[in-house]
Amino acid sequence: MSNPGRKGPRSKDKRRGKLDNSEWLQFWRHGSVTTFERNGNPNYDGEIREFWERQFATLTPEARVADLATGNGAVALLAAEYSATRGKQFAIEALDKAAIKPERDAGGAEAARPWLGQVRFRGNAPNERTGLESGSVDLATSQYGFEYGDPAASAQEVMRILKPGGRIALITHHANSVVVREAREGLEQHRLCLEQERLLEKAGRVVKAMAGAGSAFERRLLRGDGKAEHLRRKLNASVDRVQQQAARFSDPGYGIGFILQGLSSVFAPRIEASQRRQTIRRLKESCAAYQRRMEDLLAATPSEGEFDRLLGCLRGAGIAVEGWFPLIYRGEALMGWAVTGNKPRQEAASSAME
Ligand SMILES: C[S@@+](CC[C@H](N)C(=O)[O-])C[C@H]1O[C@@H](n2cnc3c(N)ncnc32)[C@H](O)[C@@H]1O
Repeated sequence: MSNPGRKGPRSKDKRRGKLDNSEWLQFWRHGSVTTFERNGNPNYDGEIREFWERQFATLTPEARVADLATGNGAVALLAAEYSATRGKQFAIEALDKAAIKPERDAGGAEAARPWLGQVRFRGNAPNERTGLESGSVDLATSQYGFEYGDPAASAQEVMRILKPGGRIALITHHANSVVVREAREGLEQHRLCLEQERLLEKAGRVVKAMAGAGSAFERRLLRGDGKAEHLRRKLNASVDRVQQQAARFSDPGYGIGFILQGLSSVFAPRIEASQRRQTIRRLKESCAAYQRRMEDLLAATPSEGEFDRLLGCLRGAGIAVEGWFPLIYRGEALMGWAVTGNKPRQEAASSAME
């Protein structure tokens, strides 16, 4: 996961809470189809896509699909592609608590563009109160989304909107997944750079010591301006310590790489001091947004007990849980829990009660 960064510094109180709707909007405006930002903004692939396609394969040609906590519509878009390329006419609803606009925000992504028009997106529609009609949905889906809401209220809502015999399929975060490991590592790297070594603060002091500068910046450095040189040495010592620690992370790119690259832009030759300050400000904002999102991801990730509770919520709402399994991507990377279930048909439900 790369650093998405698009949001300003936060109060301590907010840091403890969940990401709010406007923060999610800021993230989705970046144009990523999923929460993993990779080159070309592709959609989910491999075993994740196969899981979803197995769910779509259970549907009749005109089935109605509702993707909850859809973000920029990743799973809904997979449903649209599946439908269009197999001669089906699924009606696809994609809902999110935030006021999402994937038609605007994901239009630049090749993985989304051909299918966006086949999905009805609706924001301000939380998992717990979708606004969909009762008994109207054949398949409710959600990837990294159901666990972001209240599982008991969301399960009740899914039960309400499903047709009898309708199905639910989820991929949720898993406490031991690579996604969670990367989030933890990314946060640790940010803390090392920003809290322990205070790289951006130190960079700010160097820039200030050379203020008034523009091109004089480099000249004063070269002449060995005392204060500036002292601050620069401190900053360089911190950078060295950070670089020494990089090896203990499986991928130092999540934080260390991003921040050090940012620092080299701050000290790029032949730019104004004001530009250097602005680069530091942007870096701080990016880092704060990344940290907030990773903290939110970790907070949403169910522990083993919480995952059992989530299954209990589905059952408690009347959903027959068919099964669940750890979803492995590319044969090796644990990505989450896959869960499937259905709303029993009336006859089956009543005969089970006899
Ligand atoms: C990690 S993203 C996943 C988005 C998408 N399903 C995907 O896989 O790319 C989580 C999404 O859940 C949404 N969200 C958080 N709480 C929610 C709730 N209670 N109801 C509906 N959506 C919610 C956020 O706005 C965000 O778009």
